[in-house]
Amino acid sequence: MLLLNASGCLDAMTAPPVARSLDAYVTKTITPLPREGNPPVRIAETEHGMLNAIGLANPGRDRFLVTVLPRLRELGVPIWVSVGGFSAAEYAETCAALEGVTIELNLSCPNVDEAPESAAEIVSACRAATALPLYAKLSPAAWDVAESARAVEAAGADGLSLVNTIRGLALDDRTLAPTLARGTGGYSGPALKPIALAAVYACAHATALPIVGMGGVRSGRDALDLIAAGASAVALGTILFADPDAPARVRSELDAECSARGYAAPSDARAIAHEAHAHAS
Ligand SMILES: Cc1cc2nc3c(=O)[nH]c(=O)nc-3n(C[C@H](O)[C@H](O)[C@H](O)COP(=O)(O)O)c2cc1C
Repeated sequence: MLLLNASGCLDAMTAPPVARSLDAYVTKTITPLPREGNPPVRIAETEHGMLNAIGLANPGRDRFLVTVLPRLRELGVPIWVSVGGFSAAEYAETCAALEGVTIELNLSCPNVDEAPESAAEIVSACRAATALPLYAKLSPAAWDVAESARAVEAAGADGLSLVNTIRGLALDDRTLAPTLARGTGGYSGPALKPIALAAVYACAHATALPIVGMGGVRSGRDALDLIAAGASAVALGTILFADPDAPARVRSELDAECSARGYAAPSDARAIAHEAHAHAS
């Protein structure tokens, strides 16, 4: 079973051993031009999860390609580059400039104004620009995420990353003003897990694409749930801020969960929820 980090949740340069303990390292989203991101406050803790409004702070494509990517390659793990942009052409230009990586298209950041084109149009433009594996990262806030999944599959995506954060708001205790400077932010962590499971379940039913499941994973059992819903890989996000050793722990908990349930490998549990549902109904 493949274990990855979720984009934006692990800085491989400050924690290379954590990055090396993963089956692939996913970068923070890269945009064509450098971005400072949103002004602080950009992070807020809430009862059941975390809100962030980082706003795609990144060094920009050119500096990433020249200074960051070569150092990431030295980690010795496969690299996934998260690509963002403000038009389909911007996404496609970055895709065309990449080689030797998997591409994750961030089609769903809640903290910036979205590209005007649809997810499928962006995937089509990127498909025409590169032969590299293309994963489409979708928002759980789509009215029908399975419909978006079918559309990006038809447009040439090789896989899905599910899910990105969902928009949320926290108010300051004293002033009752929004805690984050931007107002709203992306909600991640434990509360996202049932939402992620529903998205993975629906998309595994709707498409044949491999799925990286993420959203609120803290334990091996959480990872197993996403696999049972149809994911073939699992990514760790918010948990990495509290527990940088989570990859090794989640991996061993997942193995223990699997042996306790009689699975020789986590992949044996893949999509089992769909069969169990068919038998139960
Ligand atoms: C601080 C922070 C920064 C993030 N930055 C990105 C990003 O740059 N690109 C992206 O596609 N997702 C980004 N995400 C979303 C995560 O990759 C992931 O989809 C989401 O947090 C759900 O997983 P989790 O509940 O395990 O954190 C970010 C999440 C957090 C908490």
